[in-house]
Amino acid sequence: EKGGFDSFMLKEISEQPQSVRDTMGARIDSETKQIVMPELKMSNEQLSAYDRIYIVACGTSMHAGLVGKDVIEKLTRVPVEVAVASEFRYRDPIYTDNTLMIVISQSGETADTLAALREAKKSGVTVMAVTNVVGSSVSREADEVIFTWAGPEIAVASTKAYTSQVVALYLFALYFAQVKGTQTAEQVAEIVDHMLDLPEAISEILADSAKIRDFANSIKDVNSLFFIGRSLDYAASLEGSLKLKEISYIHSEAYAAGELKHGTLALIEEGVPVIALATQPDIYEKMVSNIVEVKARGARVLGFAVESDNELIKSVDEVIHIPATLPILTPVLTAIPLQLLAYHASVARGLDVDKPRNLAKSVTVE
Ligand code: F6R
Repeated sequence: EKGGFDSFMLKEISEQPQSVRDTMGARIDSETKQIVMPELKMSNEQLSAYDRIYIVACGTSMHAGLVGKDVIEKLTRVPVEVAVASEFRYRDPIYTDNTLMIVISQSGETADTLAALREAKKSGVTVMAVTNVVGSSVSREADEVIFTWAGPEIAVASTKAYTSQVVALYLFALYFAQVKGTQTAEQVAEIVDHMLDLPEAISEILADSAKIRDFANSIKDVNSLFFIGRSLDYAASLEGSLKLKEISYIHSEAYAAGELKHGTLALIEEGVPVIALATQPDIYEKMVSNIVEVKARGARVLGFAVESDNELIKSVDEVIHIPATLPILTPVLTAIPLQLLAYHASVARGLDVDKPRNLAKSVTVE
C-alpha cells in the first residue's frame, strides 16, 4: 500500500505532481486559460461584493492560508486576515455584511476549525471550506466547498494536502480577481500558464534531491536551527520549520528575516544551521543582507534560490535551486525540498516518519 516507498510520507511527497495537477484539473479552461469554479453556489455578484476575508485553520493548513492571504491581496486588493482556529473561535471577530470566511482543513474534522466555522455561521457569515475529504463535517457544514483533490493523506505530517491547499487558494484568488475585474484575462492567463508548469517543476525537484538529503544528514545532531525568509518565503519558512520539528524533533524557529536583529540574532553562533529562502525578487537584496549578517556570526547557511540566480552562492554555503516560476507560485516549489529535509532528518535520526510521537492525524478534540 506504500507503493514501494518506505513510508507514507515519502509516497505522499512523491505524489505531488499528480495531486497538484488534479487540484487544478477541471478548474482551468484549457482554451481560454481562465478559471472556472462550477462548484460555487454563490452568484458572481455575491462573490464580487466581498471586501474582507478571514482565513481560519490550524497548523499546516494555516500556513497554506498565509500564502493564500498574500496572493488574494495581491490579485484583488481585498484585505485578508489569517487566524489560528483555536484563537479565532474565542475571539469576538469583527464581521461586516461583506465578510467572507474561508476555513482550510485537510481532514475536515479538526475540532477548532469546525467550531470557528459554526461560530461564523451563527453570526450569519458565509463560510467557504477548502478541504480534502468529501463528506467531512467541514464539507457538509460550510456554505461553499472547494475540494483539494490530493487523494488520501495517511502520514501524520501533511505534505501533498498543503501544496493542494495552496493551489486551491491560487485558483480561488484568480477566480475572485476575474469576477471582481481586478486582473485582466491576459494577466490571469499568464499566471495560469505558470501554474500548469508546476507539476513538471515538482517532478524535477523530486528527481534531484541528493543535496537536501546530505544537508538533512548534516543536521541530525544539532540542537537547534533557523529558517529565515521574507514575505512568501517567510510563510514557506514557517511550514518548513513545523515539518522539521514535527517529524525529526529537532528544534527550529522560522523568522521573518528582518526581525533577526530584534532579538534572534543573539542565538546565531559558530556552526548554527540557517536555511535562508531567497526566492522573492522584490526583497532579494534585503534577504541577502540578512544572510550576510548571520554568516558574519558563523552560521552555516543553506540558501534557496531560483534557477537563474547565480549570485546567492557567493553569500551562502550551499544553494538549493528552485525551477523558474512566478514569484507568487514559489511556495509550492520550495515546499518540496523543505518536506524532504524533514523526511531525511527524521530517517537519519531513526524515527518513525509516519507516526511522530504525541500527535494524531486528525485533531477532533480541542
Ligand atoms: C502538520 C499537520 C497539522 C495539520 C493540522 C490541521 O504536518 O498535519 O498541523 O495541518 O492539524 O489539520 P487539518 O488540515 O486536517 O484541519
